[in-house]
Amino acid sequence: MKAEINGINISYTDEGAGESVIFIHAFPLNSRMWDEQIAAVKDRCRAISIDLRGFGDSDAPEGVYEMSHMAADVRQLMRRLSIDRATLVGLSMGGYVSLAFYRAYPEAVRAMVLADTRATSDNEEGREKREKSAERAEREGAAAIADDMVTVALSDETIEKQPDVVRRMRTITEANSPRGIAAAQRGMAARVDSTDLLSRMNFPVLIIVGSEDKLTPVKDSEALRDAIPGAGLRIIEGAGHLSNMERAEEFNSALTDFLDRRVLKAG
Ligand code: MLT
Repeated sequence: MKAEINGINISYTDEGAGESVIFIHAFPLNSRMWDEQIAAVKDRCRAISIDLRGFGDSDAPEGVYEMSHMAADVRQLMRRLSIDRATLVGLSMGGYVSLAFYRAYPEAVRAMVLADTRATSDNEEGREKREKSAERAEREGAAAIADDMVTVALSDETIEKQPDVVRRMRTITEANSPRGIAAAQRGMAARVDSTDLLSRMNFPVLIIVGSEDKLTPVKDSEALRDAIPGAGLRIIEGAGHLSNMERAEEFNSALTDFLDRRVLKAG
């Protein structure tokens, strides 16, 4: 489905009914990375998955996509769908967007799942790397970025034993626009530190991380758990950064358990 939001077309899926749960994807993927999670939760709640600007079937306008712009797209989509409050499930860049969303629209957050992400911003070296990657996307296209990401985003075990996951990650990445990839990379470089928000997050929060995550290692998730009051942490053994795709069954069990106990039955 598509909606015109903030001057561009944003693509999304919308299945099920009841409490709204919005899935926000990682870089450089799109809403398709959540297919297995949507299938697992759509009988319990209203499950929405957005293609952030520049990704999937959404438009890729010019400019830098700051996390606050992406958060504003999510908020506007909620308004279109008559949703006042939602549970956000964000993985990596999706987590950065979720935190930016909370900063701007705290009243619209019901609960949050932060997977394979962090609250801190980049250092100078990180920003420089992102600019190089953005230029490479513009010069060589999405496949070059998929090449760069496979070995860092997936665990060694996943690369060795789950060729289907490697293929899926590449296929999803290659479907994205090089301009969108570059703009999001620059937006992530510009993101602000969200650490100041964490102690104020007074709603149910689950943190999930792959034990082998090389991009946002377990210690980043432990820092989130320690700073957010009452937050739970689930470590998924053997998974890398894309824990929901690499170990879908374990991820889904952590997610549905959290939704059932802390969000849906809590009323
Ligand atoms: C992601 O998975 O969204 C990215 O790896 C996040 C990042 O580059 O910081």
